[in-house]
Amino acid sequence: MERIPFSVDPKVQKARTLPGEFYRNPFFFDKCREQVFAKAWHCIGLKDELEDREAVQPFELLPGFLSEPLVLSRDAQGNRRCLSNVCTHRANLLVTEPGPCQEIRCRYHGRRFGLDGKMKSMPEFSGVEDFPSETDHLPSLPLDSFGPLLFTNLDRKASFAEWIRPVKERISWMKPEEFFHAPEYSALYEIEAHWALYVDNYLEGFHIPFVHPALNQVLDFGDYRYEMFPQGVLQIGMAKEGQPYFDIPGGQKESGQKVAAYYFWMFPNLMLNVYPWGLSLNIVEPISPTQTRIRFETFLWEGKEYDQENQDFTHMVEMEDEAVVEAVHKGVQSRLYQHGRFSVKREPGVHHFHRLLEEAMKK
Ligand code: FES
Ligand SMILES: [Fe+2]
Repeated sequence: MERIPFSVDPKVQKARTLPGEFYRNPFFFDKCREQVFAKAWHCIGLKDELEDREAVQPFELLPGFLSEPLVLSRDAQGNRRCLSNVCTHRANLLVTEPGPCQEIRCRYHGRRFGLDGKMKSMPEFSGVEDFPSETDHLPSLPLDSFGPLLFTNLDRKASFAEWIRPVKERISWMKPEEFFHAPEYSALYEIEAHWALYVDNYLEGFHIPFVHPALNQVLDFGDYRYEMFPQGVLQIGMAKEGQPYFDIPGGQKESGQKVAAYYFWMFPNLMLNVYPWGLSLNIVEPISPTQTRIRFETFLWEGKEYDQENQDFTHMVEMEDEAVVEAVHKGVQSRLYQHGRFSVKREPGVHHFHRLLEEAMKK
C-alpha cells in the first residue's frame, strides 16, 4: 500500500491543514476519484423521474470525472433500478436514448437484458461453459431517496441510511418529501479551483464577516454553530434581530430558537442548505485539479415565499465565495506555502473534512 505523505491529527488543537501538495498534485486528485468519489453517495436526480413504466434513461455519473455509464430503468411493475449501462459481453454502451423500453438489447452482438439487469439471451453462445453466470448480468446499484432526491453509489455495500441519518433526523419535521423543484431558480457555476478548496470554504463561517458583508447582517456570527457527524458537518446560522427564521415545532433540538439556516455538508461533495423557504442543494463536481463545477438546485417549501431577491442574494454570496476560493487555489500553488493550522472555535468542520479525506485515501 502506498503511503500518504501527510496526516491530520485527530485533535484540532494540534492538527495542521492538508498540505498545499494535496491540492497541487494530480496524484491526490486521482486518488480522491477512486477512493472518495467512486465510493460516495451521489444525488443523481429527482425521485419522480422516469414517470412511465417500461422505460429507461441513460446518464453518466459525474461526466469528465467518474464518467460512469449508468441507466435508470423502470419495469412493468413500477420498480426503479440503477444499472450499469455497459454490456457484459465486450463492454458496448447499451442504452443511448431515454424512452420507452421493454428490454435492453445490445446493438453490437445482440445480448438481451431485462429491465432488472438480468441477462436474458445471447446469440451464438452455445458451447460456452458456465454461461450465463452472475457476471453476465448488469450490475445493479443501490437506489435510495431522501425527500425529492434520488441517490446511488458505485459501492454496493455502502449504507445510505447511515449516511443520511443526521440530516433526516434533524429536518424530518419539515417534511422534505414535500419540497418541490424550482428549475427556474437553479444555476450552474464553474470555478478555476480544486474541488476540495470549495468544500473547505463551505465548512467554516469564519470568513463570513470578512467575505460576506451582506450575509453578516443577517446571521449572528457570535452564535454560529458547528456539529460533526461521522460522514458530515452541520453548521447552524442563527438569525440576527428582525431577520427571518424557522418556526420550529416543539420537541426538536432547536425548538424555540431563531435558526436562520441549517447548512448540511455530506461527505464528500453534497451540501443541503435548508432555509425557512426551502432547500438549496449544491453539488460539487470535480472536473480537473484546477476546475470544478457547482450545481445549484432550488427546492421550495409549499406555501413559503421565495423570489428573485432571494435568488440574487444567493448568487451574490456565491460570487463572493468563488472569488476567495479561486484566490486560495492560486495561493496553494505557491512553493512557499506548506500548510496551515485550524481555529479550534471556527474551523472544526474543515478539520473534520481533512480527517475524512485522509482516512479515505489511506484505505
Ligand atoms: S458487446 Fe454487447 S453483445 Fe457484444
Ligand atoms: Fe462563504
